[in-house]
Amino acid sequence: MTVRITELIDKMSLLEKVEQLSQLSADYFQGDEVALTGPTDKTKVTTEELYSVGSVLGISGADRARKIQTDYLQHSRLKIPLLFMADVVHGYKTIFPIPLGLASSFDPELVEQAAKIAAKEAAASGLHAVFAPMVDLVRDPRWGRVMEANGEDPFLNGSLAAASVRGFQGRGESLDENHVAACVKHFAAYGAAEGGREYNTVDISEWQFRDQYLEGYQRALAAGVRLVMTSFNTLFGVPATANQVLMRSILRKELGFNGVLISDWNAIGELKEHGVASSQTEAAIKALKAGVDIDMMSFAYRELGRQLEKREHVPQELITLLDEAVYRVLKLKEELGLFADPFRGMDALKEEKNVFTEDNLEIAQKAAEESTVLLENKENLLPLSPNTKITLLGPLAREKDLLGSWSWKGDSHENMTIAAALQSKFKKMTVLTESFTAEELDLVALAQKTAASQIVIVALGLTSDQSGEATSMTHLELPAEQLALLKALKKIGKKVVTLVVTGRPLVLTEVSKLSDAVLLPWFPGSRGAQAITEIIAGAINPSGKLPMSFPRSIGQIPLYYNSLRTGRPLTGEDSLDKENKYLSKYIDEQNSPLYCFGYGQSYATFEIKEVVLANNQVAKNDELRLEVTVANESQIDGQTVIQGYTHQCVAETARPVRELKMFKKIALKAKTVKKVEMRIPTARLAYVHQDLTSSVDRGAYELYVGFDANAQKKISFEII
Ligand code: IFM
Repeated sequence: MTVRITELIDKMSLLEKVEQLSQLSADYFQGDEVALTGPTDKTKVTTEELYSVGSVLGISGADRARKIQTDYLQHSRLKIPLLFMADVVHGYKTIFPIPLGLASSFDPELVEQAAKIAAKEAAASGLHAVFAPMVDLVRDPRWGRVMEANGEDPFLNGSLAAASVRGFQGRGESLDENHVAACVKHFAAYGAAEGGREYNTVDISEWQFRDQYLEGYQRALAAGVRLVMTSFNTLFGVPATANQVLMRSILRKELGFNGVLISDWNAIGELKEHGVASSQTEAAIKALKAGVDIDMMSFAYRELGRQLEKREHVPQELITLLDEAVYRVLKLKEELGLFADPFRGMDALKEEKNVFTEDNLEIAQKAAEESTVLLENKENLLPLSPNTKITLLGPLAREKDLLGSWSWKGDSHENMTIAAALQSKFKKMTVLTESFTAEELDLVALAQKTAASQIVIVALGLTSDQSGEATSMTHLELPAEQLALLKALKKIGKKVVTLVVTGRPLVLTEVSKLSDAVLLPWFPGSRGAQAITEIIAGAINPSGKLPMSFPRSIGQIPLYYNSLRTGRPLTGEDSLDKENKYLSKYIDEQNSPLYCFGYGQSYATFEIKEVVLANNQVAKNDELRLEVTVANESQIDGQTVIQGYTHQCVAETARPVRELKMFKKIALKAKTVKKVEMRIPTARLAYVHQDLTSSVDRGAYELYVGFDANAQKKISFEII
């Protein structure tokens, strides 16, 4: 313990300690508007208590933050600076594609760069820590928060989690003024909520948890993440926020985390609703025992403090728990340099200079371009030449909100619409502004209005508030009127390019049949419309790859490529095999997704020519080294992602049919061939055994190399 911190703790009353561990939202401090994602009650805090609160959620703006810090320090007894935190999930004011979109880039460097920019903007605006990255593994698109995740694969998730932490915090040991502390969330397994229903129970085995779900958090921790947030859900039968096995044994002891553990909004108070505490005080004690340092927006720690103050004797165990938690919070403040300078980073001039700059916006556009996935391109309809006569229609054509949920400081008014962006390149484009309802669609009128156009571009999708927290959905098709529009265009014989703006995988079975080309920009951020335009015009060749499977039917969910092998697999053609009834399949749907993990087309044509192993017998402490020969057989330059999936032939536990173990994004000029060196450290093939420990097995493996989870180029190797 540092002397300054222990001295401070010695001076603190019990109430001051619990206040230091309490986090309140900005509105308590005349801050700006913050998304109130849970209960709030101003009557529960006295003015005196307010001046000992440890941290605030949602204050931003250098001047405002400075004012609040100044006022706080003037009034607070111990003058411990406030810590300012906020949800900077995919950008501060410069908004990048939603994390699920950014994950489609399969590019950790780009993810790091985006987080670095977000950190710089946030720090200049007065923030010290951000509630990101979210690394909950997601396999159920009914859950609205898939938009914040890195998708269904542990290795991709882990790689992007680490990249994001490096971006927010910087690569050095210390946190300089251009960086912020990151908070990995939500520990743990929140993405596995039953039925995809928000805040619902998670009930997965500890084996599955360790084998698939842990890697994202683990890699964020290995990258040095300063904070962890507890999840709302129950895991192994106990709500995460009171779960001593999860927080004490796994997070703190096993994974060695000694940073700050913060609850989610009111998650401590909700232990009562979960039925594991009878009062706020009991809930607070349970959370403290689990090692939760900061109570976000429940009044449980405060209530506990008030109760303890009245007692003559406070058990030493409780005092120790409180002191440890306070120590961790103060240590973070020290690491951030707040004791040396409570106004760290906050600088109106710097804010003016660093935030929402043209340079940052250019990277946001690049990120949107790299994240867009080309799902269909029949007869190479795209790209379109500038002279093409186009009609643009659809509900999102003139929509400015392309930012997506959790873009608190992003201002969609500053965005270009898809219509305006396309019009800048396609001078012969007309925009139909009418909205069409399913019933009122007049085919004759539609045919007349689009008569002069060779191509119709339809901008479809969901709105920002249809993904993110508390947006679980049971219907994952596009709204009926949007599908009706596509059907009508098909009937009148138009060539259709469909844009699908969404924060989650949708069931696009009909859309893919009714469209000639389908482009998926997700929620692409501040420069989304421009990115879409560059791709349609062919200035940018799309290279995004899906980080989550897209189902054919909602009944297939949960659907993910890396499912465990079964005893009666459906092998070979994934058709509705009527002859072999007793197989693991449906009688009314295929097993395969409509678009698999890792999938995404390009305007170029890539082929894996050869995969050569340097060593097909690999020692346990070594790495598999290979050379992949890739050809771009087309006339257009492009980028693609080489993906390698392993398959362990025989293992102690069932293993996934395939597991992504390497990926590399490469650029390849038209008509060229490239040899790409890749490697898989054997340690990456470790899996969780029956005794719940993780290790690598000796034996036979297969590696499939290609451009998605259906990769076909197979080679065998052995671990000796
Ligand atoms: O950071 C978020 C969390 O992910 C969900 N509940 C609210 C928190 C603070 O806004």
